Amino acid sequence: MTLSKQSWRKLMKAIIYTKYGTPDVLELKEVSKPTPKDDEVLIKVHAVSINDWDWGLLQGIPFTNRLFSGLLKPKKKILGSDIAGRIEAVGKNVEQFQPGDEVYGDLTGNWGGFAEFVCARENALALKPASMTFDEAAAIPQAAMLALQGLRDKGQIRQGQKLLINGAGGGVGTFAVQIAKLYGVEVTGVDSSGKLDMLRSMGFDQVIDYTQEDFTKSGQCYDLILDVKTSRSIFAYMRALSPNGIYVTVGGSMARIFQALFLGPWISMFSHKSVRIVTLKPNKDLAYMNELFEAGKVKPVIDGPYKLSEVPEAIRYFGQGNHKGKIVITLEK
Ligand SMILES: NC(=O)c1ccc[n+]([C@@H]2O[C@H](COP(=O)([O-])OP(=O)(O)OC[C@H]3O[C@@H](n4cnc5c(N)ncnc54)[C@H](OP(=O)(O)O)[C@@H]3O)[C@@H](O)[C@H]2O)c1
Repeated sequence: MTLSKQSWRKLMKAIIYTKYGTPDVLELKEVSKPTPKDDEVLIKVHAVSINDWDWGLLQGIPFTNRLFSGLLKPKKKILGSDIAGRIEAVGKNVEQFQPGDEVYGDLTGNWGGFAEFVCARENALALKPASMTFDEAAAIPQAAMLALQGLRDKGQIRQGQKLLINGAGGGVGTFAVQIAKLYGVEVTGVDSSGKLDMLRSMGFDQVIDYTQEDFTKSGQCYDLILDVKTSRSIFAYMRALSPNGIYVTVGGSMARIFQALFLGPWISMFSHKSVRIVTLKPNKDLAYMNELFEAGKVKPVIDGPYKLSEVPEAIRYFGQGNHKGKIVITLEK
């Protein structure tokens, strides 16, 4: 294993939790620095962003997640999956990376990102372009992959379509509008009133305040709906879908998603409409995101950055839903 001169440090700062609960159970502590296995790299984390997984795993909800995260208390004590940083050491079987490389990726399943150091397998990482800041890189992995895979792979987005994004002002929506505009589509964004100005400034053609108006009852139809919240019944969404339209859910209410899962095939059987569910392929398209970023076509929307010690408050803020784009935590360089 190749180790840099910082390897003498045995302890690191991390935000840990030992029981499920509110953000109050999160503590900033000194813990042992992780050691990379033969097929892993050790990364000095420079930035990490907050995802829905962090919010759910903190509370141990939905309860089914506890089958892998720990029935009574969390098995993994450090949350945080979307990280960006510099490789400090590599295991002996690692071929793609070397110490000093600047990388980013989604470590869902292993987590550990709310810390000064984290270990990751090389297939969870991409090289960060020099022109991309660590904060920008940490904002990208999960939200941008969901947006891209939702629009391109499940939604088969095409030029000239009318697209509606439900839950437009968060991580996925703010990437989705930028990706959608590359296809030359007209985009409507649905979110709460405080985010509508931001949505307009980002290039949404129309915006709808869901607290004031139900887009499924407006009489407007869309060729493609990308749904981050799945807050309505599948029948309501079908009302807002054009005759050959595609409805794609990324996440949201589990009950509504199960309804879409079970009724989707029936809807397709009796109409030309399709109901599709995104199953995230983590990190699959990071190289493509690098291309879009370097060409100036996509830029992450960052809320923050906040400090590592502010993770509990930042996660509380995420849970309240008031954030715009991605909440990013910056660590000392
Ligand atoms: N499919 C997969 O494999 C997979 C993997 C990982 C994550 N996910 C899912 O992907 C999603 C991540 O989305 P994200 O990061 O963009 O979330 P986010 O940052 O929390 O954004 C969600 C946005 O929706 C708005 N919103 C809340 N209630 C709404 C409603 N009823 N109608 C319309 N908008 C509403 C929120 O604003 P206000 O609160 O101000 O209204 C917020 O701006 C989550 O649902 C997560 O569970 C899926």
